[in-house]
Amino acid sequence: MTQYITVAEDDRVEARNGVIKLHGPQGFAGMRAAGRFAAEILDALVPHVVPGVTTEEIDSIVYRMATDAGAVPATLGYRGYTRSCCTSINHVVCHGIPGERALKDGDIVNIDVTPVLDGWHGDSSRMYLVGDVPLKARRLVDVTHECLMLGIEQAKPGNRLGDISHAIQSHAEKHRYSVVRDFCGHGLGRLFHDSPEVVHAGGPGTGPELRPGMFFTVEPMINIGRADVKLLEDGWTAVTRDRSLSAQFEHSIGITETGCEIFTRSPKGFDKPPY
Ligand code: MF3
Ligand code: CO
Ligand code: CO
Repeated sequence: MTQYITVAEDDRVEARNGVIKLHGPQGFAGMRAAGRFAAEILDALVPHVVPGVTTEEIDSIVYRMATDAGAVPATLGYRGYTRSCCTSINHVVCHGIPGERALKDGDIVNIDVTPVLDGWHGDSSRMYLVGDVPLKARRLVDVTHECLMLGIEQAKPGNRLGDISHAIQSHAEKHRYSVVRDFCGHGLGRLFHDSPEVVHAGGPGTGPELRPGMFFTVEPMINIGRADVKLLEDGWTAVTRDRSLSAQFEHSIGITETGCEIFTRSPKGFDKPPY
């Protein structure tokens, strides 16, 4: 049985306990600011994502932008993670750790940022094309963004989380891609990862009902090949087992009375490449 709790006091951090929080106007205002800031960081990275730039240089820009604005990257020190963003290149599904690897012509890379602004988490990621990217990879990136937005279209009161999952899975599979099952979207707000778990494949009409005030991410990972994932020795980097390309986009959203508000839309209109 899904339980919900109305969080009237949005200045209090309630621990994760399986109950879905329903936030009020104060929460929406906090998430709007944090989400917009996450999107501004992703916008600002566009000119830097070019061949020759290392992923740790990108990480430094994210760190500097966040701290200059009085925000803290949520990933810094999170379960032993030591970076300000994740950079997942080509067959890396998610949680790629920024390092000495330089981007090269033809790469596709997901950059995932989560600044905590005024206590609220703005979690968003986008794909970037590095130089001249083959059509096969650009198609994957386009369809993955379509999956995200088709999922979000289902995010409204009365629908269930499974309606989002189903929209994503149907679209991905229509293109003969597969949906990664090992990682999910998540509730968020004053916590980074909260209930509910947002799976990206599933049946319509299943899962918790969507109610106004729910905050969560939608962040489908879509592979050209099989869905199977393996974790590298570093304990973070997830790659496709068959080394096929993988793409991901992520928005943080809030359910409203009539639909949803996307907190992490790009102010510059850089929602998907080409930027
Ligand atoms: N931002 C990721 C998400 O969408 C989480 C990254 S956790 C990290 O939930 F530790 F790997 F950075
Ligand atoms: Co997330
Ligand atoms: Co993220």
